[in-house]
Amino acid sequence: THPIRRICCIGAGYVGGPTMAMIAKQCPDIDVRVVDINEHRIAQWNSDTLPIYEPGLTEIVQQCRGKNLTFTTAVEESIRNADMVFISVNTPTKTFGVGAGRAANLEFVEKCARQIADVSEGHKIVVEKSTLPVRTAEAVKRILSNSNNNATFDVLSNPEFLAEGTAIEDLLDPDRVLIGGESPDAIQALVDVYARWVPRERLLTTNLWSSELSKLTANAFLAQRVSSINAISALCEATEADVDEVAAAIGSDSRIGPKFLKASVGFGGSCFQKDILNLVYLCEYFGLPEVAEYWEQVVKMNDFQKKRFVTRMVRTMFNTVSDKKIAIWGFAFKKDTNDTRESASIYVCRDLLLEKARLCIYDPRVGEQQIRQELEYVFAEADGELSDSKRRLIHDHVTVAVSCEEAAEQAHAVALLTEWDEFAKLDFAKVLDSMKKPAFLFDGRNKLKNLDLAKKGFEYYGIGF
Ligand code: NAD
Ligand code: UDX
Repeated sequence: THPIRRICCIGAGYVGGPTMAMIAKQCPDIDVRVVDINEHRIAQWNSDTLPIYEPGLTEIVQQCRGKNLTFTTAVEESIRNADMVFISVNTPTKTFGVGAGRAANLEFVEKCARQIADVSEGHKIVVEKSTLPVRTAEAVKRILSNSNNNATFDVLSNPEFLAEGTAIEDLLDPDRVLIGGESPDAIQALVDVYARWVPRERLLTTNLWSSELSKLTANAFLAQRVSSINAISALCEATEADVDEVAAAIGSDSRIGPKFLKASVGFGGSCFQKDILNLVYLCEYFGLPEVAEYWEQVVKMNDFQKKRFVTRMVRTMFNTVSDKKIAIWGFAFKKDTNDTRESASIYVCRDLLLEKARLCIYDPRVGEQQIRQELEYVFAEADGELSDSKRRLIHDHVTVAVSCEEAAEQAHAVALLTEWDEFAKLDFAKVLDSMKKPAFLFDGRNKLKNLDLAKKGFEYYGIGF
């Protein structure tokens, strides 16, 4: 097999950007080109302020950019020159037509495959990096078999398991790298890339379909753990059990394990919900409605958890939050990322706005424009389009603050929705002083649980106790 010399990655997003930066760093002799049709995004990758916030990413990009790492909109040329092409484009839930609300929209992946078929010459290895429904490689192979210039292809599946906020750590030291394929030579070529820094025993090779299906399955299992502990958190609140104690107790069983058992206001992010719904759709498609229903409960439980949080707030605050100022601490879907896709915060804010609360939102990494866009989007989604009344509701009832303290000033309540570390380091005596009394604090992450805020004058409520 010929060693890989030139890599092209289509899609400069949360996955393509960091993944390729890591390959470039670890393989100085491989030329890595990350391409995107979004000119603004490429310009950001070429600037001092990268389009995504991820601890440790800037350093790696600065080290490799201009050497063997290039961000460019020259899609065709970069594909043509590469020995290996990664497809790392978005695969969102379909919003229209057959499978709307469930199936993955494969439009962007198919367009990539067609473009690769159109411009390629000679032989290339095409790698599915995007998360895809099982058997997508079949379609990719068929499209590639109609190449313009009699080019030939091997198709591999190499799903990405990084989590946002810890992408660089995860890429540097992955639990495993999964490579599915048919051609042993093609598999070996990709194994040789990762083997520069990942121990051989962590490079798992499988058939194509196992690899594709493992990604959806991994996310379904992870999300299922969060929904399971969140389901128990509701029972804890009714029974004086404490969900963190329950999690520690069950997590010390080595068969269960301690990770991913943190009760919360609900999971968010671009992956969990989308991938489970995709799995649900696949099960239905293959005539397995019982299996579909089983996994769909994970998403339903997550919706219930987000709703339950707002219901508890309203009930606790004397059954009305109308015209009350509520500070929202955190808008990203987890700490250490600027990503807000499917963040629980969006849904909590939506439901509080429908109760006519006045929200003052603060997130250390998310700006005003992005916050307003997400809120407009969530209302538009429900109604088909953004109505004038909802536009006005957002305009009149949402402000964005530059600090937690500013958001909490004169507020009836604080809702902590993202577990940013800075939220635990505040001067809470000062925060209390600036708030209306009783000063309600609803902690959707149990981030402040150890600070004894109830003893310090707050009406403190967490998840699952
Ligand atoms: P993203 O939306 O951040 O990035 C995708 C990029 O692809 C966009 O910049 C878009 O402009 C570009 N693109 C779309 N069509 C294109 C085309 N035809 N040519 C060139 N560029 C094109 O998405 P992401 O979060 O990086 O996710 C990408 C894939 O990886 C998805 O399938 C996702 O499920 C999967 N994944 C994501 C994560 C995560 O943490 N975000 C983790 C594992 C897997
Ligand atoms: C996830 C998978 O972890 C990753 O392997 C995959 O590649 C992409 O999807 P990501 O969505 O970036 O990664 O973050 P993750 O850490 O999994 O968190 C997802 C959501 O679950 C967040 O909203 C997080 O706050 C929530 N969560 C996670 C909990 O509420 N409790 C937990 O115990 C863990």
